[in-house]
Amino acid sequence: MIIAVDGPAASGKGTIARALAKHYGLPHLDTGLLYRAVGIAVLRAGGDPADEGDAFHACAFDDALLTDPGLKSEAAGRAASIVSAHPSVRASLLERQRDFARQKGGAVLDGRDIGTVIAPEADAKLFVTASPDVRARRRFDELQRMGLAVTYEHVLGDIRARDERDSGRGIAPLKQADDAVLLDTSALNVEGAVATAIGLVEQRR
Ligand code: C5P
Repeated sequence: MIIAVDGPAASGKGTIARALAKHYGLPHLDTGLLYRAVGIAVLRAGGDPADEGDAFHACAFDDALLTDPGLKSEAAGRAASIVSAHPSVRASLLERQRDFARQKGGAVLDGRDIGTVIAPEADAKLFVTASPDVRARRRFDELQRMGLAVTYEHVLGDIRARDERDSGRGIAPLKQADDAVLLDTSALNVEGAVATAIGLVEQRR
């Protein structure tokens, strides 16, 4: 069984994907980490994320980078959203994601284009969303818990800019697949969102 979980930044898709993987005993891939790794690799090499050549070069990153704590930073998220608009970067990461999805027994993948591009054949597709205010509040609380000095306005601005880049790009834009079911987590806590997600997957498979 392949489960595709797509949605914008801080929508809760990662938490939901991890919980679904645990519930069904499936491996999970957070595909955003791949783009974050490319973004960080470009920055560390002194390159420019907006330069397609620099970004493509960084796709040959070492797997050890995938567990680097720096990947969770806002800077990594911003760089990821810039490098991810380059067609050669998406092409370079495509097979890696498809190979993961093809595992025996299945997998849960979360990202922006899993249901539309990476695994259009997925057995269940969720499009997880929440209002920009709610998403910014969640991300702000998370960053504060990590002890980072940020303002809510700054985080909201970042979320809106990322939404615009991810939805507006020409290639594999953030978009709900026709056969995906919408899950709005704005008014749900984690337990509620996970229970709803499991219920939706059960109806589909
Ligand atoms: O999900 P996360 O916030 O970690 O993703 C970081 C960035 O990577 C996103 O803003 C998006 O631009 C890009 N991304 C993508 N396709 C995916 C996953 C992430 O373009 N499947």
